[in-house]
This record gives sequence, structure tokens and C-alpha cells, in this order.
Amino acid sequence: MKYIQSYLAIILFVFVSCTGTAGTKKTEASTMRQVLNGKILIGCAVNVNQTNGEDSVGSAIIAAQYNSITPENCMKSEVIHPEENRYDFIASDAYVDYGMNHGMFIIGHCLVWHSQLAPWFCVDKDGKNVSPEVLKQRLKTHIETIVGRYKGRIKGWDVVNEAFNDDGTYRQSKFYQILGEEFIPLAFQYAHEADPDAELYYNDYSMVGAQKRDSVISMVRKLKARGIRIDGIGMQMHSTMEDPNLSGVEKSIEAFASTGCKVMITEFDMSVLPNPFAGTNASVANRFAYTEKTDPFSKGLPDSVSTAWNKRMNDFFLLFLKHADVISRVTMWGLADSDSWRNDWPIRGRTDYPLLFDRSHQSKAIVDSIISEAKKVSVVKR
Ligand code: XIL
Repeated sequence: MKYIQSYLAIILFVFVSCTGTAGTKKTEASTMRQVLNGKILIGCAVNVNQTNGEDSVGSAIIAAQYNSITPENCMKSEVIHPEENRYDFIASDAYVDYGMNHGMFIIGHCLVWHSQLAPWFCVDKDGKNVSPEVLKQRLKTHIETIVGRYKGRIKGWDVVNEAFNDDGTYRQSKFYQILGEEFIPLAFQYAHEADPDAELYYNDYSMVGAQKRDSVISMVRKLKARGIRIDGIGMQMHSTMEDPNLSGVEKSIEAFASTGCKVMITEFDMSVLPNPFAGTNASVANRFAYTEKTDPFSKGLPDSVSTAWNKRMNDFFLLFLKHADVISRVTMWGLADSDSWRNDWPIRGRTDYPLLFDRSHQSKAIVDSIISEAKKVSVVKR
């Protein structure tokens, strides 16, 4: 069965490569990857089924349309380093092989994050926080081992993910409790030592709010002042039809670029569903109860909503193309609507429509718009 799937995947990939029509409804001659080549990297977060060949259709569309990949879950510490003396590289090796086979700019995600954190990482056998020295050693070993394994193949790392609260204060993660703000420079330093050629990034959500934005900028400037390598700032952009607003995004792009870092849109998706946050903290830990009212499009998306979604998406892509001198990459957080984590966050079991490809793997109108807009721009990198 596996062989048949692989065989089908190869046929599909060859077909896609030759015709460039994967996932596009019309006979569009180009793919996003082709027209954005040399302008902005266009990325996709991939799941294990896409990189191990189980989802051969999805895997072929990703290879045709995208030239960068981010691992949706398989490199988070709870997966890749579940026990102190045990690593599990099965999924991450397949991920990197897939990226190499398809000429992708491969991203590693993520080295230091309080969420999906391996339970052993910051505590001793009695569950008490370890000492700063022990945590430093664990961080160093974790980072050295993983970055070292993929040295030269993973080109950019999300080194630290989500270290700040929306009010700009440091998040009280175990890393912060034990090492204070120094955990950030340490992590960047260890990553740099493990692969001196890799790009290193800081990544976070709600990056349009002034307080978080300013704290990130000041942290980045401090790293640079100390001569510690940081190449990029990632704005996740798990969006809704209301948030964030375009002008706020533009302001943050400009502010982050003023540090000399590349700016990246790292986890873009846009939900059409009612947003329960209403100004509260959009952390992955926040969840709300399901009611039918919160899931209005379970039987399909009305044309009016789809049109509004495509229009807002297009506005965002025009903004990214306008700032392509400083934006190095735009990564979608998944391929098709059925793959998206937004179906389950912040409310489980809804039917959402946040990505560029629908549940039948057909491209939405936005894909053709991106292709025609990208053809028009010429980009000179800053
Ligand atoms: C999400 C994945 O998409 C889900 O499958 C998983 O259950 C939770 O994490 N910020 C990040 C990403 O940096 O790694 C998260 O990915 C989404 C929020």
C-alpha cells in the first residue's frame, strides 16, 4: 500500500512539476513558488503525513507551490526530546529529507518554547525546578544535538518562541523563572555555536500590540549590542477577519525592520469564525466552549464570506509584497483548510476556512491573485 502511495505521489509530483497546475482550479501556468522565486520565500507548515508520504496529494501540492517548510509539531521538545536521554528523530528526519528532496528553505521550529515542552525539561525527578546551571546544561545539550544534527540542511531556526506577554513583560515560563531574561541570549548563543551558518529567529504572536512589539525590539537590540547573532523576527499572524488591522501590521513590519533584522510572517492563517477572544490574550493555552453559534459554517462557506476572506487575504499579500525588501518569508500555517489547527483552536471541533487551499485541495481565488500580483513586482532586498 505504502509503495502504491509513493508511486502515486511520484506520478503526481512529476505531473505537477511539468504542468504547474497543482491545486489550482484553472489552467494557471505558474505556481506561487515559481513567481515568488527570488522575491519572498513562500512557506507552508507541514504535518507528518505530508512529509512521510501518507498524504501524497498534499505533499505534491506543497512541493509545487511552496519553497520553504516549517514543521508543524515534530520538532517541539515534547516530540523530538521526550526524555532527557532519549531523542525521537523519526519524524524530523523525514521532514528534513522531504525539504531537501524538494529544494526547500527548511525552517526548524522551535528550540525553546514553554508550550509543548517536554515534561522533564525544567524540573528534577520530584517535579521541582532545576537550578540555573542544570537548565543551562540541558538547554545547551538540547540545542547542540538538534541543530547539530541538521547543520547545513536546516537554514533558519525559530530559537525562542513566545517569550513575552501581550503587555510587554516577560512571560513567567519555567525558562524565565529559572534563568531570568538571560535564557534568550543563551539559547541564541548555543544555536549559533551549533551551526554558525544558520539564520536565527525570535518568533511570537500578537506582534502588532505596541507593548509587545517594543519589548521584542528592545530585546533584539540588546542581543545585537552584545554581538549575539539574531537574523530575523517572526510575526506569527494567526488572524481573524477583524484582527490584526493592516496598518498595525505595517507599522510592526517597519519597526521590526528598523532593528536590521529580516521580518517574517511565520504562521499565517485567517479564521472566518466568530472570535471569542475579544481583546483577551490569544495564547495557545486559552480555549473556549463549543456551541452551535460559534460554528456557523459547518455546512459550507457562504460566497459573501469567502469573497471577504479572499479580499482581506489579498490586502495582506499586497502589503507583504510592498515590503518585500525587508520581508524574507511568508509562511502559511498549513496547506488545506482540513489540516488547520484553527478547526480546534481556540474552540475544538469547528469548521474553519483559514488557508489558501480548500478541503478538496483546490486553490482559493487568492492563489491566482498572489501569482498575478507577484509577477508585477520586482524586489530589491534591503
Ligand atoms: C500548533 C499546531 O498547529 C497544533 O497542531 C498543535 O496542537 C499546537 O501548536 N504558535 C506556534 C505553533 O508557534 O507551533 C503552534 O502550532 C500555533 C501557535
